Amino acid sequence: MTTPLLQVSELAVAYGDVQVVWNASLTVDEGAVVVLIGSNGAGKTTILRALSGLIHPVSGQIVLAGELIDAASPVDFVKRGLIHVPEGRRLFPGLSVWDNLMLGAYMRSDREAVARDIERVFSLFPRLRERRRQDASTLSGGEQQMCAIGRGLMASPRLLLIDELSLGLAPKVVDELVAALRKVNAEGTSLLVVEQDVATALEFADHAYIIDQGRTVRGGAAAVIAKDPAVRAAYLGL
Ligand SMILES: Nc1ncnc2c1ncn2[C@@H]1O[C@H](COP(=O)(O)OP(=O)(O)O)[C@@H](O)[C@H]1O
Ligand SMILES: [Mg+2]
Repeated sequence: MTTPLLQVSELAVAYGDVQVVWNASLTVDEGAVVVLIGSNGAGKTTILRALSGLIHPVSGQIVLAGELIDAASPVDFVKRGLIHVPEGRRLFPGLSVWDNLMLGAYMRSDREAVARDIERVFSLFPRLRERRRQDASTLSGGEQQMCAIGRGLMASPRLLLIDELSLGLAPKVVDELVAALRKVNAEGTSLLVVEQDVATALEFADHAYIIDQGRTVRGGAAAVIAKDPAVRAAYLGL
């Protein structure tokens, strides 16, 4: 068996004294698209924050490409190719689309590769090229998500974490984003996506985990999870 790109075992995370993630275990294979599904407050964002070094877990193991990541800062995760596109997009207002994208490359010194990557982002999202000089805060919600994902891609990630891919966006825009991310994935970037639209999530992903009250209660091939009667009843209203 090959080593998974990311292996998370029995992760526990707390905010101060309040524990919100109790036991999250998940695997992302190299080249995979994995989704986390679960209701509001289940702990999905907290798990992604722990996986990108924004919160230090109480216990559990995070193994990235065979290396145990311990006491690491976000910079250590970025250096290892793990990039987090946060919920709510978090672009820098007052900065242009171009500058927001370039901030994603702040750790890189390979200028030629950075120039190639911004071209790649623009061919993936042509609207960002058109609007490259525009203040990022004037973009539509869908364009902001494109810019946030583009900024993530500018770090040349091995694994891109995306929190709430489709939240607040029109179905047509979501289709565009999914199509772009399929290309990104086909070119070799693995994806771990939190997506509240379960039908979209299961259609997009290879593998899915259900998060409930801070625990991974179920995981499997997305096609299998999609057929699970309990999942269909709880998350798809079927
Ligand atoms: N900064 C914080 N401080 C304290 N509690 C938090 C904080 N952020 C989230 N929580 C709590 O942690 C739980 C999980 O939240 P979150 O990870 O955001 O869930 P999800 O992303 O699945 O909606 C919720 O009960 C939420 O209220
Ligand atoms: Mg969340």
